[in-house]
Amino acid sequence: MLAAYVEAANPDDPLAALRVGDRPEPVPDEGWVLVRVEAAALNRHDLFSLAGVGLPPSRMPMILGTDAAGTVDGRDVIVHAVIPSSGWSGDATFDPKRTLLSELHQGTMATLVAVPRQNLLDRPGWLTAEQAACLPTAWLTAYRMLTRDSGLRVGDTVLIQGASGGVASAATALASALGFRAWVTGSSEVKRSAALERGADAAFEPGARLPERVDAVIETVGEATWAHSLRSLRPGGTIVCAGATSGFNPPAELNRVFFQQLRVIGSTMGTIDEFRELLDLMQRTGVRPTIDRVLDLADAEQGFRAMAEGSLQGKIVLRPPSA
Ligand SMILES: NC(=O)c1ccc[n+]([C@@H]2O[C@H](COP(=O)([O-])OP(=O)(O)OC[C@H]3O[C@@H](n4cnc5c(N)ncnc54)[C@H](OP(=O)(O)O)[C@@H]3O)[C@@H](O)[C@H]2O)c1
Repeated sequence: MLAAYVEAANPDDPLAALRVGDRPEPVPDEGWVLVRVEAAALNRHDLFSLAGVGLPPSRMPMILGTDAAGTVDGRDVIVHAVIPSSGWSGDATFDPKRTLLSELHQGTMATLVAVPRQNLLDRPGWLTAEQAACLPTAWLTAYRMLTRDSGLRVGDTVLIQGASGGVASAATALASALGFRAWVTGSSEVKRSAALERGADAAFEPGARLPERVDAVIETVGEATWAHSLRSLRPGGTIVCAGATSGFNPPAELNRVFFQQLRVIGSTMGTIDEFRELLDLMQRTGVRPTIDRVLDLADAEQGFRAMAEGSLQGKIVLRPPSA
């Protein structure tokens, strides 16, 4: 079957590690099913995998992709990407041995993917397969950051660092839908304008002094924005951090953290119940993912390149060839 995969990581030039070609069809374990993939979305995680981050050589070749929508025996499904270790019960994101698809088990950028049956959700008819494929990583993460983790209440202001990214664009749209005032930073005028169209109440240049301090910050950029995030929070405010694309080691500025009594909360993915809540919110409010482009899986390299260059808005979706 056709798949986008990594055979040998390349930390210096991740795109050079991308392979699109034939891979064996997965064989489902007991309790797992084969999903025929209709749409798989691209995440920064896939670029990190090409660089070998979190993916040791012993697990390669590895098909990329954490997110998919597809069909199982004629049923339209969305795949929840968090795979607990066997015997784990409860919130899988707290299982120390949990993985995402494409970390231990083969990923979603292929004609077929094997997943635990318990990881399937029904895809509602009001959501296309392409829209549904955007949700399992970026949208679910943004949902948990804003709801469980941020401490935000209706009318509060949230700063979202990085306007165009998958998580950031989801957070912008969801913050609006949840009744928060959404401020974003964006690295270009085009990205800032697009964020305003997605529901942001104001858009600022990176590092800008804000009109007032915010109640919470949604942080996935890391080193490049961390100091600004700390500076922008009101006393007692919350940074929710789910990623660090630009680097993992910003100056901690602990003096600001304790003196302003800031809360720094780590966040990762979400549960299948939170996924159902997200779908419910989307149905009630009509909020939908921004899809930059839909590409044939055979053209995956074009999508990876756009992500690496930062020249996209929202999500890129790949479509495997239909049977
Ligand atoms: N913990 C979790 O469960 C989880 C889940 C999803 C994602 N993540 C992490 O969250 C991060 C974002 O993921 P994504 O898929 O949304 O990525 P993405 O779509 O590639 O988005 C990249 C974002 O980074 C921003 N950015 C700003 N300054 C940057 C700089 N100096 N260098 C690089 N990027 C910069 C961009 O902002 P502009 O629009 O201003 O250019 C853009 O919003 C990644 O680190 C990813 O691993 C974690």
